[in-house]
Amino acid sequence: MACESEKWVLMVTAQTPTNIAVIKYWGKRDEDLILPINDSISVTLDPEHLCTTTTVAVSPSFDQDRMWLNGKEFSLSGGRYQRCLKEIRSRASGFEDEKKGVKITEKDWENLHVHISSYNNFPTAAGLASSAAGFACLVFSLAKLMNVKEDHGRLSAIARQGSGSACRSLYGGFAKWIMGKNDDGSDSMAVQLADEKHWDDLVIVIAVVSSRQKETSSTSGMRESVETSKLIHHRAKEVVPKRIVEMEEAIKNRDFESFAHLSCADSNQFHAVCMDTCPPIFYMNDTSHRIISCVEKWNRSEASPQVAYTFDAGPNAVLIARNRKAAALLLQRLLFHFPPRSDADLKSYVIGDKSILQDVG
Ligand code: DP6
Repeated sequence: MACESEKWVLMVTAQTPTNIAVIKYWGKRDEDLILPINDSISVTLDPEHLCTTTTVAVSPSFDQDRMWLNGKEFSLSGGRYQRCLKEIRSRASGFEDEKKGVKITEKDWENLHVHISSYNNFPTAAGLASSAAGFACLVFSLAKLMNVKEDHGRLSAIARQGSGSACRSLYGGFAKWIMGKNDDGSDSMAVQLADEKHWDDLVIVIAVVSSRQKETSSTSGMRESVETSKLIHHRAKEVVPKRIVEMEEAIKNRDFESFAHLSCADSNQFHAVCMDTCPPIFYMNDTSHRIISCVEKWNRSEASPQVAYTFDAGPNAVLIARNRKAAALLLQRLLFHFPPRSDADLKSYVIGDKSILQDVG
């Protein structure tokens, strides 16, 4: 390593949005490598709102790898962080910045330590896929810092080893995580189905029912489902493969009716699997159920669906409106039925590219 002074610091900052699955990933066939039992499809949210911002820095004066999450130091000892760091380090290439007098060879990276600082602009671990944005951003920023020359597909396979759903956040628009067949996970990665401009009529409204941390993490919830639910295996083998084909078709043709039907059905089946788990897992609450009823009732009163809903491992509703007009009407309905007051269950709303987050809780 050649450098004029030992005082230099190299830094990279990246921002990665979270993604919401419309065909869910739930269940692993390999816990260590994070290999899923079915393909999944997601829509990546607007980077302006629900995203993670990560700054990674390297300097010869750092004596260990360290990380801060939302300003608090966080242990990097977990296997998932270590795996991502190891995978990126093993692909690092040499770097030279004449102005700063910095020259790092491929081998130097083994002995250089990194500092990582990450911020979420949304509730962590409240079923808003914070780990997806977090690991995608970590892998992407480390890859830039260490001059890794891999495409998004290969980087997604590394992010997958941090958190499965993270692999889909490497892309904007719509992404598919291909489960892959290989035991070593080399073919389990995400691809982009369509970019963010392809279907820009859609407006996403998130109704934040609760920003509390969930009781059962996705990781342990899906492990318990794989071990105890029969429905999950039927879903993975018989239901999802067909839905994946239909969802890809719906996205390609911007067919909102099919998109809404598939998204709602898949969310409901995922929660049915949670109920079929022993002991049952309840991610949704009464407010979530009331939101479903409200949307279902409205959709049925129209010639074709106006809004799709989907819920991840938490009570918050992700509502996808077919266009701005439907989003405005949806918001009116939500505000009427669920006024965000401090004593109400529903805390705030986040809408598409314009935030109207009103945290009144
Ligand atoms: C319900 O990706 O958080 O959001 O791979 O164990 O980290 P790990 O789980 P995670 O699970 C996400 C589950 C889900 C559905 C989805 O995003 O596809």
